[in-house]
Amino acid sequence: MNFNEKYDEYLKEFNSILNKFCENLNCRPEILNKSLRYSLELGGKRLRPVLAFAIGDLLGVKREELHNFALATELIHTYSLIHDDLPEMDNDDFRRGRPSNHIIFGTGNAVLAGDGLLNTAYSVLLRECRKGAQYVAAAEFICDCAGIYGMIAGQSADLLHENDTSFNEPTLNFIMENKTAKLITAPIVVPSILCGGKCFAELKAFGRDLGCLFQITDDILDVEGDFDTLGKSIGKDKKEGKYSSVSIHGLDGSKLMADVLAERCRGIIEGIGGDNGFLLSLIDSVRGRKH
Ligand code: IPE
Ligand code: IPE
Ligand code: MG
Ligand code: MG
Ligand code: MG
Repeated sequence: MNFNEKYDEYLKEFNSILNKFCENLNCRPEILNKSLRYSLELGGKRLRPVLAFAIGDLLGVKREELHNFALATELIHTYSLIHDDLPEMDNDDFRRGRPSNHIIFGTGNAVLAGDGLLNTAYSVLLRECRKGAQYVAAAEFICDCAGIYGMIAGQSADLLHENDTSFNEPTLNFIMENKTAKLITAPIVVPSILCGGKCFAELKAFGRDLGCLFQITDDILDVEGDFDTLGKSIGKDKKEGKYSSVSIHGLDGSKLMADVLAERCRGIIEGIGGDNGFLLSLIDSVRGRKH
């Protein structure tokens, strides 16, 4: 099976879990139900669930063990995008190829849709905790990655440093490591926690490097990308006064850093060994991505 076929297989498996989750949503009023489903069903690459499944396969963790952790991670990620697009944050009108949640439902409902997804993710994780100590540790890891020592800290710094003339590389690294890499590390490390910590340190380092690579390519695509392929607005970082990898390192410098990070990611995955072909191709696909 080649890389694209395998990715599609993981994607199909995750989408069927997500579709079931969406079909069972029956909250009221109707606008709440609709706004939650709108952002979830728009699609997206589902990179985080795919990573959970691929690392699970590498370590020999049963796929069913990962379903709800993958679901919770994607719910948290989708909430973070809804809030990220709000007028008081990045003020983005497009997401996943369609108008952003707040453009369709209004800002108040978009805040609530994000809150709703986050709350529901915690319910999903708490139910997993009944299974035992390793499930509690995995749930806790995801919460920490999403919270005030993770994604929220990165988003806070990202806002704080808009138009900051003294912006520097350590601040950029703090932002990338927290706003993006933490929530990419979560689904990579969860399978390790579930099987007693196999390759924990290596996978944590891999999550950090792949997450930073992912954000650098996002910053490059904000300059060089194509709206139709990317499904979100281009040129927004400069317009909103964001300091990105491109504003600190330039386009060529950012591409070089992306190459270095991709090489580091490959080194870690090769070091782990096993049936790692899919993950090696995934690193290349993140480096070369157009969306
Ligand atoms: C976008 O994430 C936000 C960043 C962390 C750069 P993705 O590019 O994974 O978004 P979707 O899920 O595919 O829409
Ligand atoms: C977003 O970073 C990271 C999140 C936590 C959502 P960006 O603001 O660069 O992501 P996009 O470009 O809007 O997808
Ligand atoms: Mg942002
Ligand atoms: Mg944004
Ligand atoms: Mg961006």
